[in-house]
Amino acid sequence: MKIDILTLFPEMFSQVFEESILKRAQESGKVEIRIINFRTFSNDPHQKVDDTPYGGGHGMVLTCQPIFDCIESLRTEDTKVIMLTPDGVLYKQKMAYTLAKEKHLILLCGHYEGFDERIRTLCDYEISIGDYVLTGGEIPAMILADSIIRLLPGVIEEESHLQDSFNDQLLDYPAYTKPRVYRGMEVPEVLVSGDHKKIDEFREQMRYNRTVERRPDLLEK
Ligand code: ADE
Repeated sequence: MKIDILTLFPEMFSQVFEESILKRAQESGKVEIRIINFRTFSNDPHQKVDDTPYGGGHGMVLTCQPIFDCIESLRTEDTKVIMLTPDGVLYKQKMAYTLAKEKHLILLCGHYEGFDERIRTLCDYEISIGDYVLTGGEIPAMILADSIIRLLPGVIEEESHLQDSFNDQLLDYPAYTKPRVYRGMEVPEVLVSGDHKKIDEFREQMRYNRTVERRPDLLEK
C-alpha cells in the first residue's frame, strides 16, 4: 500500500513513522509513506495557500488551486482521497478494515482553517476521528495511518488483531503477566489453571462484562 499525507506541517510527522511496527512495515515494503507539503504546489509568488472567506467571517480558508494540483498530480485510478475534518463521518475500526484493502490512499490535512468547500469534490471520504476539534488534520492522519497499517497482511500477526476491541462489537479481555501477585492484587485463578476451555469462557465473559459496563452502546447495535 502507498499512503501520501498532504500537509502544511511535514515536520510533525518526522518521528511517528520511524519507530516500532510502523517503521518495520515500511522497511519490509508493506507500506510506502510519503509526506508532501502541498504549499509547494501553490502558483502564488509567495506560495500562499489560504485566503479570507467570501461573505466575511473570521479565519482563513484553504484555497483550491494548490490542493487540486497536488491531488491531481498524485492520484491514479487506484487512489482513494480522504479529507480529515471534524464534520466528517466518525472513524471506526470497520472503516480501518475497508481502507486497509486499498492500494493508494491520500490523506488531506488542513490546519487552523477550513477547506474551500469545492475541495470536497476531490475526496472519496471525509473522516472525523471524534467529536472534538483539533488544530489540524495531522494527528487524525497519523491515527488513520497507524490503524490501517497494522491491519496490512504480515505487519502484525493476524491472531493479535482478530481479538481486538471493536472487531465483533466487544471490547478486549483483560490481560495479566508475571508476577502472580503484585501488591496484593492476584491474577484470576482460572488463568493459571491450564484449562483452555475455561480460560476461553472466562475471557469471553470478561469481554462481555466490560462492554456492558463501559460501552453499552456497542451492544445496542
Ligand atoms: N481536524 C480538526 N479536528 C478534527 C477531527 N476531530 N477529526 C478529523 N480532522 C480534524
